[in-house]
Amino acid sequence: MRFAEKLGMKYNNAFNEHLSFDDVSLLPRSSDLEPSEADISAWITPEHLLAIPFISSPMDRVTESEMCIALAREGALGVLHRNNPMQVEVDMAKKVKREEISGIIRDPLTVTPDTPISTVIRIMREKNISGLPVIDKSDNLVGIITNRDVIAANPDSPVNKEMTPKEKLVTTLEKDILENGKLNTEKVKQLLHFHRIEKLLVLNELKKLTGLITLKDIKRLEDSPYVSRDSEGRLMVGASISPFDHERAIRLDLVGVDILVIDIAHGMNVKAIKSVEKISKDVNSWIMYGNIATEEAAEQVITSDINKLASLRVGLGGGSICQTTQVTGVGVTTLSATALVADAVQEHDANISIVADGGIRGSGDLAKAIGVGASAVMCGYLFSGTDEAPSEKVYIRGVPMKRYRGMASPSAIRERYAVDRYTRGTKEIAEGIEGVVSYRGSVRTLVRDLAAALKATYGYVGARNTKEMWEKARYAKRTMVGVREGLPHDVIPETQFQDLYDTF
Ligand code: XMP
Repeated sequence: MRFAEKLGMKYNNAFNEHLSFDDVSLLPRSSDLEPSEADISAWITPEHLLAIPFISSPMDRVTESEMCIALAREGALGVLHRNNPMQVEVDMAKKVKREEISGIIRDPLTVTPDTPISTVIRIMREKNISGLPVIDKSDNLVGIITNRDVIAANPDSPVNKEMTPKEKLVTTLEKDILENGKLNTEKVKQLLHFHRIEKLLVLNELKKLTGLITLKDIKRLEDSPYVSRDSEGRLMVGASISPFDHERAIRLDLVGVDILVIDIAHGMNVKAIKSVEKISKDVNSWIMYGNIATEEAAEQVITSDINKLASLRVGLGGGSICQTTQVTGVGVTTLSATALVADAVQEHDANISIVADGGIRGSGDLAKAIGVGASAVMCGYLFSGTDEAPSEKVYIRGVPMKRYRGMASPSAIRERYAVDRYTRGTKEIAEGIEGVVSYRGSVRTLVRDLAAALKATYGYVGARNTKEMWEKARYAKRTMVGVREGLPHDVIPETQFQDLYDTF
């Protein structure tokens, strides 16, 4: 059965009904699996498997390095936004790639013996790190300076006055702590414990510094069942670019970005496709192209000459902050767009994943999107309320909120960095809004909750994995009364008790 037919659409029908998430519910099916056995992982490119198929939107109130690092550590993926000067996005990508290799921070930031303590304090604060190896002009390790050393030090004195010197340093050879390329965390923990230290310096045979291991990272490693890594063991990261920004693409590719996400509102723009064809010949990264929303668009992109096209970003006008459909009258619901594009991909027998993007408000929606052919979902709103989103936390009547805005909202346009996507350079009208969303705490908890809910869906549908979900998911259309019945009703939720007490 074709995916669009699951939603009641007919091919060659000029006036199909485009159902949305709330219009349908998934049907339960015979099942012999426990939710915990469900495998929700998905290949996003032929080389990148996400254990948890959630991707954050490239938006300036959603995804910078911190979000990418947190999501990769949970087995998901972050895509850096591009509403900034090129160097800023490149540095953010570098930061993610530098974060850790299987517990080892590669290429750690260092200082020289004559660096003033005030500079060390600034670096520690800006980069949120608690210690820096000290390297002399010949690239030899001569000490380490940590939080504890600088706390009461004279800001003008040089590092070599306050650091732990070479003679007292605890170091290890890389070959002694790696086994078949994997970090022996037990050995590292013993070393850290024995010397009562929190940082271990890693050297190669030539006694040059090759990495740094922190107790914090080891603990985190043990606590993360899934981590999204590239072939070198570094955290995975996606980065968005304008389809016309050749230079940015090349710079990000050099950093080793795993997937370049082409970020354009109307992916059927012929000039954009032509430009991406050229860019794709000059980069190694896989490419996610979007946004598109119809089978016609999918056909146009799949048959283009884009090299290493791995994924299609699907949805137009469905986002929580989108005004495109209201302003222009153009839009396709994300659920229906996903089904239409998934059918086109199958028709072409193309090895291309589909990422449903826009309008996903919770676990039920993302399960429904996967059932019509998506491998993963892209979310802005869901992640925008978390600690890791790079936005201000505000309190409205004492309730914590975070700011969120569309990339075509008036203030984003005013910043005028995303010059080609929606700004006044090409369009005279805003196509997004700005506002606040409820604060949700850490993205890690959110991702774990969403993943648990998705596994529960697979359990109800009887799908062991995503391929089976595509085959087995069946939908029923709901009435408004049905939608109401599907939500908690008649009982006053506990969360509103406080308001009641206040009233009486
Ligand atoms: P959610 O619903 O997850 O949607 O917040 C995020 C997606 O919305 C798209 N996006 C926009 N669409 N005007 C639009 O019409 C905008 O200003 C805008 N900003 C982002 C984008 O696809 C994102 O992933």
